Amino acid sequence: MSTDITPSNTQEVVPTTSNSIPSRGKISRRKMFALAGTGTFVLVAGGGVWRAADQGVFSTGQGPAYEPWDDWRATTKGPLNLVRAAILAANPHNSQPWLFHVTQTQINLFADNRRNLGAVDPFLIEMHIGLGCALENLLQAATANGYTPQVVLAPDVSDETLVARIELTPGNAPVSVLYNMIPLRHTNRYPYDTTRPVTTMTLNALSALNDDPDVRVLWFANAEQRKSVGNLLVAAANAFVADKVQDVVDTDTWWRGNWQDIQQHRDGITLDAAGLPELTRILGKMLPSVSIEQQDSSFLQNTADQVKTAGAFGLLAIRNKQDRTQQVRAGRLWERMHLWATKETLAMQPLNQATERASREIVLGISPHFGDALHTLVGDTAWQTILTFRLGYSTHEGLRSPRRAVNDVVTS
Ligand SMILES: Cc1cc2nc3c(=O)[nH]c(=O)nc-3n(C[C@H](O)[C@H](O)[C@H](O)COP(=O)(O)O)c2cc1C
Repeated sequence: MSTDITPSNTQEVVPTTSNSIPSRGKISRRKMFALAGTGTFVLVAGGGVWRAADQGVFSTGQGPAYEPWDDWRATTKGPLNLVRAAILAANPHNSQPWLFHVTQTQINLFADNRRNLGAVDPFLIEMHIGLGCALENLLQAATANGYTPQVVLAPDVSDETLVARIELTPGNAPVSVLYNMIPLRHTNRYPYDTTRPVTTMTLNALSALNDDPDVRVLWFANAEQRKSVGNLLVAAANAFVADKVQDVVDTDTWWRGNWQDIQQHRDGITLDAAGLPELTRILGKMLPSVSIEQQDSSFLQNTADQVKTAGAFGLLAIRNKQDRTQQVRAGRLWERMHLWATKETLAMQPLNQATERASREIVLGISPHFGDALHTLVGDTAWQTILTFRLGYSTHEGLRSPRRAVNDVVTS
């Protein structure tokens, strides 16, 4: 068990109560999964059709909240184009925990600590992985926009929120094929095709994207390994659900349960991106909430199904879980792998409950059950897990999640 992160030596945070990130009402994130489990049907007539329109049933992936996916390759030149690419990156709970200060020759990437996940990510590890994802997109776009970027991570010891400084000079390096994948990459939570295995060659190609000596990717691809990792992730989901602080308060802060919320806040987790069958997704938008107990049991069922259809599992480990720059560099690798996977029509989904539970165990001072299990999984005390995920060939394309506008994330 790692003991190098403790609440006393690491800043602990609570979810913000700022107006921009409201605590949500009574509809929970896992309403979506409850619907999958209960087989609910409604008569769609009259007011039902009105509610369907009101809830965006006919406008999936449309409206201002989704425009950044279409506008990302602006016709005007300049450094803001790099931010347009950065904000499409993967990030925890779609909290979009970033701010950018942009000049003609430099971009500073800041952590927006107000956009934290509370008890889900008490040490801001996931936040910094997400910032690394944004940095990777930004750098892919820098080359494509005719710059040679030079990056310094954590350039100012007096400002912990300054994650990276990117100096931009003119350049003409070839554009990576990964750049074009930026608007096509989406976290895919649908079931994966169990008849189509992920080959060793594919896993090796993903591993080859890693050029960082402080980051490691490990694979769990054979049937026995998949079963064992799958069981661990399901057990972690159970522990997550049993912990009401982690389960309800924090996670629900980021749930955008209706169309108006999505268009207003342009962040968070949505029903559309949940990987549900079409009918369930439509009904989920139209129906009122179900009980917390139903939500919990169906969430667990959904996790079990996702785990069951994984073609392989992987994990990202770093040498020192506390090291911010290593967290950011791991995030860069996650995004790069996901962009490459998108090119190969390979679906990916982080399933990070085990590491979230490991952090929570430290905060609560309880037995490090998941912390120990993750160490056993890695099998080398020199490495510490920060992200677990599944991959495979999906039965459906992953759908877009909302994004805030560039103007909302650029500071003066
Ligand atoms: C550090 C990190 C942890 C994540 N953990 C989970 C997870 O446990 N389950 C999940 O379904 N998605 C997880 N995600 C995916 C995010 O929810 C997703 O990136 C975000 O909602 C934006 O959606 P997009 O990736 O489709 O653009 C994680 C992403 C990151 C970067």
